[in-house]
Amino acid sequence: MYVDVCRSDDLADGEVLRFEPDGLDEALAVCKSDGEFFAVSDKCSHGNWSLSEGFLENCHIECVLHGSAFDLKTGWPDKLPATKPVKVFDTRVRDGVVSVDISSGKVREKPGS
Ligand code: FES
Repeated sequence: MYVDVCRSDDLADGEVLRFEPDGLDEALAVCKSDGEFFAVSDKCSHGNWSLSEGFLENCHIECVLHGSAFDLKTGWPDKLPATKPVKVFDTRVRDGVVSVDISSGKVREKPGS
């Protein structure tokens, strides 16, 4: 079920916003990186910290607490200390509106496994 988040021009490239959709028991970090929109679980898999407070670079979001960086396409961390992925959600842009499929959240297969 897709839920509207914002207008596509509300987010500049490299920006992230925290989104708390009705009907989902977790917040999401909605990101624009390299011209694409992504949505992942907002809670870092390493600790109780909001990824939406982090930084975006090369389709990764870096947690500001201990520096783990999560691939926005797979949810898997590329940098320690996190070793577990965050869930990835499908996004779409239609008529200039960014939406997230809140029923699509899942842990993706680890790249290379
Ligand atoms: Fe995110 Fe530790 S809480 S890396």
